Amino acid sequence: MEDLSGQIEEHMHSFHHLAGEVKDVGSALLFSNRSLPSPTYNHATRVRVAESEANKLIADVIRYYQSMSFKACFMLYPTTHPAAFADSLLNAEFELIDEENAMIFKGKTVNARLSSDVHVTEIDGRQLDVWTKVLMRGYSLPENFQGIVQEMFTKVSRHNGSRFYQAYFQEKPVGSCLLYAFNDVATIYTVATVPEHSKKGVATALINRVIVDSSKAGCSMLYLLAGKGSDAERLYGKLGFKGVFSRKLYELHPKKQE
Ligand SMILES: CC(C)(COP(=O)(O)OP(=O)(O)OC[C@H]1O[C@@H](n2cnc3c(N)ncnc32)[C@H](O)[C@@H]1OP(=O)(O)O)[C@@H](O)C(=O)NCCC(=O)NCCS
Repeated sequence: MEDLSGQIEEHMHSFHHLAGEVKDVGSALLFSNRSLPSPTYNHATRVRVAESEANKLIADVIRYYQSMSFKACFMLYPTTHPAAFADSLLNAEFELIDEENAMIFKGKTVNARLSSDVHVTEIDGRQLDVWTKVLMRGYSLPENFQGIVQEMFTKVSRHNGSRFYQAYFQEKPVGSCLLYAFNDVATIYTVATVPEHSKKGVATALINRVIVDSSKAGCSMLYLLAGKGSDAERLYGKLGFKGVFSRKLYELHPKKQE
């Protein structure tokens, strides 16, 4: 289990190297993307620190993100050392703001409801404008971030393990996702369906296509991340993915001085 979560963690980190800046301070990796003010792209992770140095690391990380006008965040995986680091964060006025389950495809899809109105194609880097628009609508992201998000995924598209998929409902683009493969391991990233076409089998079709393609590409493991208790988590369970561990995101929320 430790090996598996370590492997998935390193895989996620390799993706972040494509999506933004990474500073390695020895006891942690500090991810940043100044253009995207989201904890997903701005957090410290891979914490490996001596217990006696934990508070110093926390103070350094707070300063680092404050210098970019971001709230400091830590993403903790089961491999975090020391195990009590989360308690140190809580003592330093961090709060748990998100928890995601890493889920691995177990080799068998159960209950997939495929619709003949939906089809999926792989697109190339030149079609990322529509792909990004659909993604932004699926995640309800403000339209003014379109350029920044598209630029980030254009960078990702230059990695030869990245494949982009567009789903169509009766020829209209309504769903997007990305397959990112590295070192024999693949992940499905940013699954999104525009709200007016949800619950018609769009995400189901995207995920089924990626399952087939990652297997054809010879990947030994396919995983994805889903918000704990979310609709997406339930859907992925139906499609043959099983939770193996969770990662937790903590954000600094200093209490107001009395
Ligand atoms: C989560 C998300 C990707 C699901 O997309 P979707 O296209 O609605 O998913 P599907 O239609 O394939 O499946 C949704 C439900 O419809 C059902 N369904 C699938 N095919 C169907 C069909 N042909 N007819 C009717 N229902 C169908 C599924 O079984 C599922 O049921 P459930 O809610 O009981 O689990 C979408 O809601 C979304 O974009 N959310 C915001 C972004 C996000 O959170 N992404 C996930 C990140 S991990």
